[in-house]
Amino acid sequence: MSKPNVFVTRMIPEPGLARVQEACQVDLWTDELPPTRDVMLEKVRGVDGLLCLLTDRVDDELLDAAGPQLKVVSNHAVGYDNIDVDAATARGIPVGNTPGILTDATADFAFALLMAAARRVVEADAYVRAGKWRTWGPSILLGPEVAGSTLGIIGFGRIGQAVAKRAAGFNIQVIYHSPRPVDNPPAAARPVDLDTLLREADFVSLHMPLTPETRHLIDAAALAKMKPTAVLINTARGPVVDQVALYAALKAKRIFAAALDVTDPEPLPMDSPLLALDNLILAPHIASAGAATRDKMARMAAENLIAGVRGERLPNCVNPEVYED
Ligand code: GLV
Repeated sequence: MSKPNVFVTRMIPEPGLARVQEACQVDLWTDELPPTRDVMLEKVRGVDGLLCLLTDRVDDELLDAAGPQLKVVSNHAVGYDNIDVDAATARGIPVGNTPGILTDATADFAFALLMAAARRVVEADAYVRAGKWRTWGPSILLGPEVAGSTLGIIGFGRIGQAVAKRAAGFNIQVIYHSPRPVDNPPAAARPVDLDTLLREADFVSLHMPLTPETRHLIDAAALAKMKPTAVLINTARGPVVDQVALYAALKAKRIFAAALDVTDPEPLPMDSPLLALDNLILAPHIASAGAATRDKMARMAAENLIAGVRGERLPNCVNPEVYED
């Protein structure tokens, strides 16, 4: 029996790729950069399955270009705002993602950004390399205290709660705001409304999905409510922050600092004014980039893809309604 045809839009870690290659006839995009839109539209034509990355837009046009035989879209990410899930559901196509396994790696990185921004690690490194370190100084590179501070977590799902766990070890009080109901929140974490969170938090860390409701949730008005000593951390999705407003707030020192693992757009253009700010740390969307985590993501994305092309239920499906009669 011939193997199902799939398009894999990038080299994914070997444990996942090997699984896909064993089970499917694979068209693999091996470039470092994602396929262009035109290439995507061409490559998906006639495939049974698509394994894509968060850099690939999957919408009505692409699903039509693929054709009615397409059985599954498997995203190599937990977030799936790059996929028009309603368009997939309308065609009865299950969409897979990779929840759970990247929770710790992402929470670790959010915490690394929190610590680095508070204690000015990146500025300190630049300071030493620039030859500015002339003596020990009582007032050099001061930052807000971490111990005894309040962390406001927006979006209190798996990753938000994992950040809260880490905060407990640093003697940080946690308040949170979650648009979705929270199962078994840790007793020490206090739910608050968004305004209270913005006003009370010394650190604000974002962990919600990108949806029409969360786009630019952190806008000029939200930033204006934050303390002048506050730090904003974003490991969620770039567009949840209004970057123009963030630039203005950082430039005018209306908040102390920010640390972004995600930006809008990605990659951040080299002429972005954000790059000139000392009180901003930037990373290239690497919060889940633990080596073992990425292997597990690739494996899970492969398992979703293979189940889908075989007509089996995906182990992790974001639109299970496709299985309802
Ligand atoms: C990364 O951002 C992911 O959604 O997995």
